[in-house]
Amino acid sequence: MTTDAPLVELLPNVKAFIGEKRKMLIDGKWVTAKSGEFFEVVNPATGEVIAHAPSGGKADVDAAVAAAKRAFESGPWGKITPAERGKIIWRIGDLIMKYQEELAQLEALDNGKPISVARAADVVLAAELFQYMAGWCTKLDGRVLNLSVPYTPGVEYHAYTRREPVGVVAQIIPWNFPLLMAAWKLGPALASGCTVVMKLAEETPLSGLKLAEIMQEAGVPDGAVNIITGFGETCGAPLAAHPDVAKVAFTGSTEVGKLIARAASNDLKKVTLELGGKSPNIILNDADLNIAIPSAANAIFFNHGQCCCAGSRLFIQEGVYDEVVAGIAEIARNMKVGPGLDPTTEMGPLVSQVQFDRVSGFLKSGIDQGASFAAGGARVGDKGYFVAPTVITNVREDMKVYQEEIFGPVVTATRFKDADDELLRMANDTIYGLGGGVYTRDISKAHKIAARIRTGTVWINTYNIFDASMPFGGFKQSGWGREMGVEVFNNYLETKSVCVGLG
Ligand code: NAI
Ligand code: MG
Repeated sequence: MTTDAPLVELLPNVKAFIGEKRKMLIDGKWVTAKSGEFFEVVNPATGEVIAHAPSGGKADVDAAVAAAKRAFESGPWGKITPAERGKIIWRIGDLIMKYQEELAQLEALDNGKPISVARAADVVLAAELFQYMAGWCTKLDGRVLNLSVPYTPGVEYHAYTRREPVGVVAQIIPWNFPLLMAAWKLGPALASGCTVVMKLAEETPLSGLKLAEIMQEAGVPDGAVNIITGFGETCGAPLAAHPDVAKVAFTGSTEVGKLIARAASNDLKKVTLELGGKSPNIILNDADLNIAIPSAANAIFFNHGQCCCAGSRLFIQEGVYDEVVAGIAEIARNMKVGPGLDPTTEMGPLVSQVQFDRVSGFLKSGIDQGASFAAGGARVGDKGYFVAPTVITNVREDMKVYQEEIFGPVVTATRFKDADDELLRMANDTIYGLGGGVYTRDISKAHKIAARIRTGTVWINTYNIFDASMPFGGFKQSGWGREMGVEVFNNYLETKSVCVGLG
């Protein structure tokens, strides 16, 4: 179902923001790329150019890393008290809410997501993430240790650990949740006392550049956060390989994640990676279908399937298979597909021509390999990058649509007989391990299956629930390390042991 309601009127500030060629934030100053080049920012609902952002390259990366290094070594960020740091980070959250509508409009325009979702989810979660992390600043304590030291009898020691920031952090983020991914990465890095160079995704630089303004307004000192724009190979790669970067935090494709891990191996930088997924979502015969059907639809259609943890492989027990497939197909057919700026839109366009072509290629492969379509299977309209919410049946394990991450609103439905080892084998038979779900009224069965799904997150009788307190990340080729929760600090803090001989 398509929608053609009137679009949200852009705020004057948003019009001004996109009307001017954007600059990047390096060392507290707004600068163009040293090359003088810009790239075009495209509205995915129309394919039209809406803004321009600097095409940063190696020289800009060098300047940004030098600023972050100076800010780390001698600048105020490492020297102010944890409480002061916390207050600045908290203020970032407050200001995100002050600019909520501006940020939501930029996100809907640039990424294509429904403005209702950008307002209620992306912006609010970003604000909450900063405020959750702000609270940790004053709590990242070390421990006092009780030493025995058997080879120095009679001598006493006082030993303790300190938790110190790793240093300059390079952060490279994707386009599916532009503002939220920036928040997930910047919040803990700043709370740890690290300084940062972040490269935004070339598809969606707008909300991150607005966030950079907000960070300045909140009082983040010059050089502590540098936000740059540019392409992966010419801007991301030199950033990830820079010798003065102590740690790289990356979210994106598994392919680029491997390149980053390889580049980092030269000087053994710390690396965290949040990569692809092909998450299993299991519905048992005894599930409450009033919950399971809409939840399984949301698991794949939320953000147009452009979620690393999208529940893209549905496994449905045979007693409820027909009802579940029919239910999800009906939701798919009734979803309002339209531009993100239409307030009634439930699903927007894919982010780019490239992603549209990629997802369309998967749909074609499904047709070629003999799959059936209970809903969708084609584009919507003839301009912009809209793909219909799609439910694929008659799936075989050798099909590309079943094996590979599609990153679009496309789910495969597989029927199973018993909730046994064979079901778990199928669910875990993937190189990925990011998310997963199980729906059942049997709590014992639910927890047993949750324990056996080899993924970083398992949702029971729900899906796509995120919270700043809940760690998120992948098993297997879905990545290294965790974002959010207290676990994220393992990636941004070094532990130092200090041992004092007391005689
Ligand atoms: P990508 O991995 O190429 O891009 C993500 C970020 O990495 C962007 O900022 C990009 O500029 C940067 N990048 C690209 N090449 C780089 C390099 N050689 N060195 C350093 N940085 C580099 O992902 P892309 O091409 O946008 O999407 C391809 C596929 O990746 C999608 O279809 C999807 O399957 C997956 N993906 C997964 C995401 C996730 O949340 N885990 C997010 C985006 C994409
Ligand atoms: Mg790429």
